[in-house]
Amino acid sequence: MSAVIVAIDGPSGSGKSSVSKGVASRLRYEYLDTGAMYRALTWWALDKHLSPDQVADRLDECAIMSGTDPEAPFVTVNAIDVSEAIRTPEVTAAVSAYSAVPQVRTMLVEMQREAAANAGSGLVAEGRDLGTVVFPDATLKVYLTADVEARAQRRAAENAQRGQDADVADTHESLAARDAADSGRAVSPLQVADDAVQVDATFMTLPEVIDHVTALVQERV
Ligand code: DC
Repeated sequence: MSAVIVAIDGPSGSGKSSVSKGVASRLRYEYLDTGAMYRALTWWALDKHLSPDQVADRLDECAIMSGTDPEAPFVTVNAIDVSEAIRTPEVTAAVSAYSAVPQVRTMLVEMQREAAANAGSGLVAEGRDLGTVVFPDATLKVYLTADVEARAQRRAAENAQRGQDADVADTHESLAARDAADSGRAVSPLQVADDAVQVDATFMTLPEVIDHVTALVQERV
């Protein structure tokens, strides 16, 4: 029997990671943060001083591995743990440009499908194009969103915990720029899958969203 696939897409700061990890833990499924894979690729390219148009020919030098335990997620590049390094402002500012390179997407989408093929009972995967491109036959597709101000406040609080810029206005500006880049690109833009359930988390707490999405999964399995 193939694994249950839960695809959770949505813009930056909508709470996808916390929700996806929470749902995966609750259901004892595996977890895949596809944004971390695009960030890891970007970290590697910046480290090697490769511009977005130079990476396509060098992808065989970049071996990315993602841990799928929702309680202890990690990502490595060439066996270096970059789980923290991929959250710096430099990587955040550059990731949309590298994610728009078609060869990068082909490589990472293949790895994402492989993770699903190797998942035990289920996989909760979060990103931008999981319901639309990567897992068109997912058991459940969720499009998680929240008003941009709510997302900026949440992301600024996370940045403060990491000792990074926690100004809500700056964070709002950077989120809005990334939303525009991720939604406007030619390849696999962020968009709502026709059969996705839309969840607006603006006025919901994290446990409420986790309960709601877990119940949606349980209705289908
Ligand atoms: O979820 P995140 O903010 O960590 O994602 C980082 C970037 O990666 C985001 O700006 C767009 C890109 N991304 C993507 O293009 N496709 C995905 N499936 C996941 C992320």
